[in-house]
Amino acid sequence: MPTEQDVTRIRELREEIERHNFRYYVLDAPTALDHEFDELLRELEDLEAKYPELVTPDSPTQHVGGKPSTTFNEIKHLVPMLSLSNALNESEFLDFDRRSREKLNSDAIEYVAETKLDGLAISLVYERGVLVRAATRGDGTTGEDVTLNVLTIESIPLHLNCLDPPVVLEVRGEIFITKADFDRLNKEQADRGEKLFINPRNSAAGSLRQLDPKITAARPLSIYCYTVGYVEGLELPATHCEVLEYLKEIGMPVSTETQLVKGVDECFDYYRQLGERRDKLDYEIDGAVYKVNKLQDQQTLGQVAKAPRWAIAYKFPPEEATTTINAIDVQLGRTGQLTPVARLDPVFVGGVTITNATLHNEDELKRKDVRVGDTVVVRRAGDVIPEVVRVVIDKRPKNSVPFTMPISVPEQELVQRTLALIHFASRRAMDIDGLGNKIIEQLCRANLVRDASDLYTVSLASLVSLDRLAEKSAENLLASLERSKQTTLARFLFALGIREIGETTAASVANTLGSLDAIAAASVDELLAIPDVGPVASASIREFFDEQENLEMIRRLMDCGVRWPAVEVAAPSESMLSGKRIVLTGTLASMTRDEARQALIKLGAKVSASVSRNTDIVIVGADAGSKADKAAALGIEMIDESGLLGLLET
Ligand code: IVH
Repeated sequence: MPTEQDVTRIRELREEIERHNFRYYVLDAPTALDHEFDELLRELEDLEAKYPELVTPDSPTQHVGGKPSTTFNEIKHLVPMLSLSNALNESEFLDFDRRSREKLNSDAIEYVAETKLDGLAISLVYERGVLVRAATRGDGTTGEDVTLNVLTIESIPLHLNCLDPPVVLEVRGEIFITKADFDRLNKEQADRGEKLFINPRNSAAGSLRQLDPKITAARPLSIYCYTVGYVEGLELPATHCEVLEYLKEIGMPVSTETQLVKGVDECFDYYRQLGERRDKLDYEIDGAVYKVNKLQDQQTLGQVAKAPRWAIAYKFPPEEATTTINAIDVQLGRTGQLTPVARLDPVFVGGVTITNATLHNEDELKRKDVRVGDTVVVRRAGDVIPEVVRVVIDKRPKNSVPFTMPISVPEQELVQRTLALIHFASRRAMDIDGLGNKIIEQLCRANLVRDASDLYTVSLASLVSLDRLAEKSAENLLASLERSKQTTLARFLFALGIREIGETTAASVANTLGSLDAIAAASVDELLAIPDVGPVASASIREFFDEQENLEMIRRLMDCGVRWPAVEVAAPSESMLSGKRIVLTGTLASMTRDEARQALIKLGAKVSASVSRNTDIVIVGADAGSKADKAAALGIEMIDESGLLGLLET
């Protein structure tokens, strides 16, 4: 006969092993060392060998941990998940109580008073004491299978704490995030530059309905259980109060704010006291819930459409008011996130006068389509920041326009830096293998890298500090950074990301001028004389090298060891035009000026944009202007289009 101690130990071991299995197989985040895990499994195997009658098919000794599914399946609830009718004031509550008294033929009903938690409802199905399914409420009949996510919530037991568990027990409760956890979570989101959650309810729902349980696991979800939905193989006690006691006993978290009350006066007392304590509670509630205590009476009262007649939610008065928006300002957070804030006509709500309300973020602002001049409903809940709930569309001024968010300067700068570095590292530029866009973005966001030269001074430690970069990959990345330093002048010039300078232009400039110094010193005219370089590109190159900052960055890159082999400059072919300085002016009929320029360059001529004493020949097309006049004044040889064609033919 197994001792009670052994039975308990077996249960503990299974629970612990399953949690490890789950972390190992589903979350890819094992928390136990292999040998510790092996010891637990060994201990369980020994106990099961001693008591074969206690071996169950679901024991971790009988199977290995499984893999997660990737979509939410539908789960049909064993019993529909109802919602609660609301009482919005005293008289509505009195109506509810009167109807119940009449039906039950009672003078004063005993209720269990509870908090109305502001989270999302969950159904937890335990079969023979093992958590097998968890589902959201969905439409009340069918919910979403969130079992894998629920398994990550520490406070939800995987096994019921009882020796003789019922065949089936469906426990229902509310998943929520405490105010403190909510603040912490949002701080972390901000530190990572991710979107902030709007309120605890919204973040609890968002955290539970994740396709990747790893994300849920990282979120601080809590639960309070408040009822049994379905049971098989167990006689429930006679009262709801005892059901809650039972839930507590078998290890389910139950709220401590629960109280047995009799008659409406005690109901109102509870409501008032709860209202006074509301701000001090560590979780959000939006009212009190009263449930007829005797389950037999609940049966008698039955239900209407979607809600039971034996329970009611007595909501706190909405802390809402109507006012108008005078302006919308956009605040820049420490980590670059933008928060639109509505400046309001002062309004008294929830005991204080408010003049500002948050619009949370761009998505929320767009969804609610809040505009300057709008009349809006604002809400203040507890000690959270007042928010704009919705627009009163009927009161919208005729000339109103949608509000557009500016993109912040730091964000814009960040985007530009990131794009410049992505180009620099790309295959046809410096070809830095393993330096992906995500890594570049993180380096920029963390301000570890400001320009290309910083890439070559990043430390291993900084790289390892990035998300998703293991030490091995970081080492590989450092090696490929090192490799990339051996490059070609053409690649380097292209990598600099000068506007209008593509791969071909860069190669042409590099091969014509031969050295970075020559490129940096070339005049617009000299650049224009290079094949593939037009006026825009030549101006752009000049501008780039005129910028002190760029020269300094290039210097730093060279100091880091960026090098290329010397370029052999191809000598222009010998011809009558070799070395001749030629200027083109006016319009040509048989070709464009650019075509003429290219053809002349091929023959070894130097084509300049302006006429000077050094000019040898000016080619004059139709409607030539001041250049022709200047050439005439300087006595420079001038030829027309047919003369040009003759020159080109020879
Ligand atoms: S009992 C049939 N008790 O409120 C009873 N629900 O508006 C239905 N809720 O879907 C559930 N606190 O998500 C119950 N103490 C409480 C509750 C509670 C919050 C939620 C629950 C339900 C919704 C109904």
